[in-house]
Amino acid sequence: MCFRWLTENDLPALQKIFSQPQVVRFMSTEPQQDESQARAYLQSIRDGFASGDLYQWGLEYRGDIVGTSTLAGIERDNHHAEIGFALSPEYWGKGLMRRAIPAVLGFAFERLGLRRITADVDPRNTPSLRLLAALGFQEEGLLRQRYEHMGEIQDALILGLLRDDWTRDNGF
Ligand SMILES: CC(C)(COP(=O)(O)OP(=O)(O)OC[C@H]1O[C@@H](n2cnc3c(N)ncnc32)[C@H](O)[C@@H]1OP(=O)(O)O)[C@@H](O)C(=O)NCCC(=O)NCCS
Repeated sequence: MCFRWLTENDLPALQKIFSQPQVVRFMSTEPQQDESQARAYLQSIRDGFASGDLYQWGLEYRGDIVGTSTLAGIERDNHHAEIGFALSPEYWGKGLMRRAIPAVLGFAFERLGLRRITADVDPRNTPSLRLLAALGFQEEGLLRQRYEHMGEIQDALILGLLRDDWTRDNGF
């Protein structure tokens, strides 16, 4: 299992992941209807990387791209970014993201030198909240009725992980 850059060859896998309503229900994207939307999504990842405020890697597992993780809204001055993750539902609950995300956190804190990572999660998104708690994120506040997405109004729970917490908890 590893994170790697996404290429044109990954468009079918990207579309499979991001076409599923249960995957994107709590994300800031609509279900992809066809491969052209996956292509536009890949282009937005490349554009974000080129402008220096986004990393989005594919999670490769047994030869297939089964999910992605994102560092978005990277603020170099504030040493801050927002983390995101998505996995194809047939792989949910197997501990894949719990094992994979520490590599993203290590990259963020050690390579990018970030001081803080934020997660913005719907309070009903239990798998994400359990994953973030296991990684050491702390709940910091609730933004009520923050989003309108896929026909519903959604609250946003804000969680944070500091580099100080990460280095202490990982024995650095
Ligand atoms: C969030 C997500 C990436 C978690 O990936 P995952 O590999 O299934 O996570 P893990 O297997 O490492 O499990 C993390 C925790 O969630 C729990 N969990 C996983 N699937 C669950 C489910 N369907 N219902 C309830 N809990 C669940 C696990 O038991 C584990 O908790 P524990 O450590 O207390 O036992 C995945 O659920 C997903 O892609 N969700 C849709 C996208 C999304 O909402 N992204 C976040 C937007 S903020």
